[in-house]
Amino acid sequence: LPADCPWLNTRLPVEQRVSMLLARMSLSDKLALVHGYGTLDSASVLTNLQHLATPHGPVGPGYSGSIPAQPELCLRKIKLLGGPAGVNHGIQHVTQLPAPVALAATWDNSLAARYGQVVGAEVRGKGADVVLGPAVDIVRDPRWGRAYETYGEDPYLAGQVAAAHITGIQSQGVLAQVKHLAAYNQESYRDTDLDNAIVDERTLQEIYLPAFQSAVRDGHVASVMCSYNLVNGRPACQNNYLMNGVLKGQWGFPGFVTSDWLAVHGTVSAANAGLDMEMPDGCYFGAPLARAVQARSVAESRVNDMVRRILRQEFRFGVVDRPPDGDLHSVVTTPDHAALARTVAHDGTVLLKNQGHVLPLASQRLRSIAVIGADAGGGAVTSGEGSAHVVPPYTVTPYQGIAHRAGSRVSVRYDNGADVAVARRLAAQADVAVVFVGLPEREGRDLASISLSPHDDLLVASVAQANRRTVVVLNTGSAVAMPWLRSAAALVEAWYPGQEDGNAIADVLFGDAEPAGRLPVTFPTSPAQGPTANPVRWPGVGGVVSYDERLRVGYRWYDAVKAEPLFPFGFGLSYTSFRMTNLVAQQRPSGAVDVTAAVTNTGVRAGVTVVQAYLELPATAKEPPRRLVGFAKVRLAAGALTTVHLVVPPQSLSVWDVRRHHWVALAGRYTLRVGSSSRDLPLHASFNRASSLVNGASGPPAPLPAAPALEADRSTGACANNVLLSELMGARSLPGA
Ligand code: BGC
Repeated sequence: LPADCPWLNTRLPVEQRVSMLLARMSLSDKLALVHGYGTLDSASVLTNLQHLATPHGPVGPGYSGSIPAQPELCLRKIKLLGGPAGVNHGIQHVTQLPAPVALAATWDNSLAARYGQVVGAEVRGKGADVVLGPAVDIVRDPRWGRAYETYGEDPYLAGQVAAAHITGIQSQGVLAQVKHLAAYNQESYRDTDLDNAIVDERTLQEIYLPAFQSAVRDGHVASVMCSYNLVNGRPACQNNYLMNGVLKGQWGFPGFVTSDWLAVHGTVSAANAGLDMEMPDGCYFGAPLARAVQARSVAESRVNDMVRRILRQEFRFGVVDRPPDGDLHSVVTTPDHAALARTVAHDGTVLLKNQGHVLPLASQRLRSIAVIGADAGGGAVTSGEGSAHVVPPYTVTPYQGIAHRAGSRVSVRYDNGADVAVARRLAAQADVAVVFVGLPEREGRDLASISLSPHDDLLVASVAQANRRTVVVLNTGSAVAMPWLRSAAALVEAWYPGQEDGNAIADVLFGDAEPAGRLPVTFPTSPAQGPTANPVRWPGVGGVVSYDERLRVGYRWYDAVKAEPLFPFGFGLSYTSFRMTNLVAQQRPSGAVDVTAAVTNTGVRAGVTVVQAYLELPATAKEPPRRLVGFAKVRLAAGALTTVHLVVPPQSLSVWDVRRHHWVALAGRYTLRVGSSSRDLPLHASFNRASSLVNGASGPPAPLPAAPALEADRSTGACANNVLLSELMGARSLPGA
């Protein structure tokens, strides 16, 4: 322990260590900690731009950002890397896990924790200290180019998966950075004033913020990233309501807020609104912040607070106390990590249709299988693109996985589907045809529609016509349209399944693993059916992205307008059957509700189901019909029975009161419905409740500012070049481009 750095004494409490160090820092020492030191031509910024620009993701490799070492203070360099799916930026020898949407589709918190452990271990093994994930933004429209990076359309599910994932990451001694705060739901008009979410306080609190709250309260997340968009006229990274008001005030968040890359547009406004760290450079928090402190437009105590928040987390995880574990060349993937990738992939796979029990294939006496589609061969889509893209060490293609599993007694033939007539002939000759199609998503660009390419739609329809035992496998990041659905015998959604793609899909198709996934997003019959069909709502018109569908997001919308979606939220079939009985709901004095229900596997094979609990509030609450309030994944042997126990926390029974700026439980009758999807809820139990304030907060409530004006402080900072760069990034994200 160097005698002149007593704060390195790990036996002292973290807060004391931070105070000792702070007392020794000059203003310039402090300012060096609150921004990255990339420049326009630094690897981080270029990588960032390149991941938007190249069709194959980042050109990297490099860290996303870093904070310089301060040897006089015994502080080493801190590096930020990774994303929602693990080590990114073109860096090799890492595990390509299934996309985060697949993780959400597992509805399995213990798998989410293990996924987080892999991400944390690999990011740490590459020498970095902060993981830039998970992404918990709500899927408001399936055309969002980053839907695959997130946990779907429901705030409770997203919050549960996020908290577990964060716990896993942070168990590895690295910091997680949950993102992107908040109401970041599109790539169109990215990082421009035109992406201006106009969203009311109740909707923010009930739909767009709870997953972040869960990350803070349940996941104890170290840091938060603010987003590119504006919220009610103010850039998210200069937004006092979001950062000082809700995050730090209402939720008592003790960690730090980092800007998304180049998402800051003002020094004083960002600092005073609660931003603690600018990335990837110091255009606003470098020299301009020093000047602002001198001019007293930012108090030095605010800078101290930024530094305290950053150091607190660095000490908490011991990153200042140890050298980095490895570097960008370290091999961090392991057979265990690959095995987890395979487990998450098959556990997140959703069986949407299985007419005539075409699946599982192992139960059929098959002599031949036709495997069709570019997505089953060298062109397999195993990951989305953009900053979350991970380079796989290898990819098991569906054709390889199926051929391997089928063994030598079954003929497995492959055609890439480029010529529909050829594919159709191959399908006609086989006992079963499996056709693979997908819709690639990428950061920086929204999808023009949720339709597959006309070629893929034609391919599926033709194959299904040629072979009535056709299985369609979708690789998408969110909902897609399926004009051919009636003619397909079976349908499976595999999301982007990662490097173990072919093995995982063979596991499910042959029945070695259950299709254990359930939809984390609603599949509409067409985009016109969803809540954001009107361009005023998505992607916005003339600088207004109107969130006036309010609480009616995802399944809440379909329930509210009584529309029948193609496949409802929470849906997924099993190879066996289940019965749920004996629902009991009991209120605790604390306001929480204990729920128990019995589940029986009524089929002849072992299987998995997800028990889902939804709540109907009293009419006075003016809520959409139902909200998810609990779930449990259950594995049962044939004929076996178990009782599941869920605890519905008080906040799940409450609504956000905009007059009191507080969660309140309203007096009245509540009905809990339990079943296997948002539209299959055979059990119900009702109870009455008195009204009460609900303690969902640990700090003062934050009223949303009235009639917010456009942020005056939207300047170019010290780096005029970055404006060019952000414009370039913005220009890539015109709607439907
Ligand atoms: C993305 C962030 C990401 C950052 C650094 C940005 O383009 O929006 O999610 O963490 O790049 O890679």
